[in-house]
Amino acid sequence: MKFLKFPYYCLDYRHPMENVLITGGTGLIGRHLSKRLKDSGYSVALLSRKPASNSGLKVYTWDPDSGAIDPEAISTADYIIHLAGAGLGDRRWSEKRKKEILDSRILSARLITTRLKETGRRPKAFISASGTGYYGSATSEQIFNESDESGADFIGEVCRRWEEAAGEAGKIGIRTVIIRTGIVLTKRGGALPRMALPARFGIGSPLGNGRQYVPWIHVDDLCGIYIKAMGDQRMSGPYNATAPEHINNSRLMETISGVMGRPFFFPAIPSFIFKILYGEMASILLNGSRVSAEKIIESGYVFSYSDLESALRNLLCER
Ligand SMILES: NC(=O)c1ccc[n+]([C@@H]2O[C@H](COP(=O)([O-])OP(=O)(O)OC[C@H]3O[C@@H](n4cnc5c(N)ncnc54)[C@H](OP(=O)(O)O)[C@@H]3O)[C@@H](O)[C@H]2O)c1
Repeated sequence: MKFLKFPYYCLDYRHPMENVLITGGTGLIGRHLSKRLKDSGYSVALLSRKPASNSGLKVYTWDPDSGAIDPEAISTADYIIHLAGAGLGDRRWSEKRKKEILDSRILSARLITTRLKETGRRPKAFISASGTGYYGSATSEQIFNESDESGADFIGEVCRRWEEAAGEAGKIGIRTVIIRTGIVLTKRGGALPRMALPARFGIGSPLGNGRQYVPWIHVDDLCGIYIKAMGDQRMSGPYNATAPEHINNSRLMETISGVMGRPFFFPAIPSFIFKILYGEMASILLNGSRVSAEKIIESGYVFSYSDLESALRNLLCER
């Protein structure tokens, strides 16, 4: 029969291709997430300050400082994921840099929510990154959860104001999810290759007193959490995105050396060295408390990498 020649069974009427717009999608998390989304059948576009990218994805441009944005970016998006922001650990925090860190997250979130208000476009969800730095950079045994207050330091304030700006989407009826992210571990880029460098030469050691907790997450789990947040209508508000295992810096550095088969006996690098090198920014290396993964687990998310050693074996040893 002639009509059977067309492969109708290939058409999936339950999941028409949905468009995901990722701000700052050219960065570390965005590159992993856009690949995962594409592999899962979504159409992905990036919103970037630069017109071209070698990702092969559609790129819309914007300039959060001047308020310019390609209107098509918003009018075609079924989901918006907001990752854009000047890197927290890229350079010392001068007053100018602090303003850039804040503005790049807040003006950009505001630009999107203002356009959504103006155009009446209502994507299915607006999902914004935030950081576990929300709880402030102090070392304590407290386990912070999503109902705890923000910290009073610079990063605590950045995260609080970033989340407030993203929350404007919630006020116009868009389901808004905030992903308070720990340090993202990846094979290339980000913190892990830098932390693993001394271990490679057999000189791995704790930073400062080594007692500071390091909330961490494998990039595959972080992408999994974003994808769950897109599809799960019950998810709304803040979620900590950190592995359930709490480890301190000393154990982190020792596990990195162990997984790489290197010795770990060098004395800790004293805190003052980081303070001289990085000034106030050193606080993100030298302080840290425990952050709970309970809420995201209760939402039904199952971690692929819930313990540090398995995450590091995957990232440092597998091709
Ligand atoms: N990686 C982590 O361990 C981690 C942990 C906690 C939270 N987060 C947060 O998650 C988000 C994504 O992280 P990431 O590691 O993927 O960051 P990333 O690699 O630094 O990428 C961020 C992207 O934001 C855009 N951007 C940079 N400076 C900007 C500015 N001044 N104004 C507007 N946009 C700017 C850039 O995209 P274009 O050049 O294309 O515009 C850049 O590719 C960030 O907001 C970060 O703070 C990351």
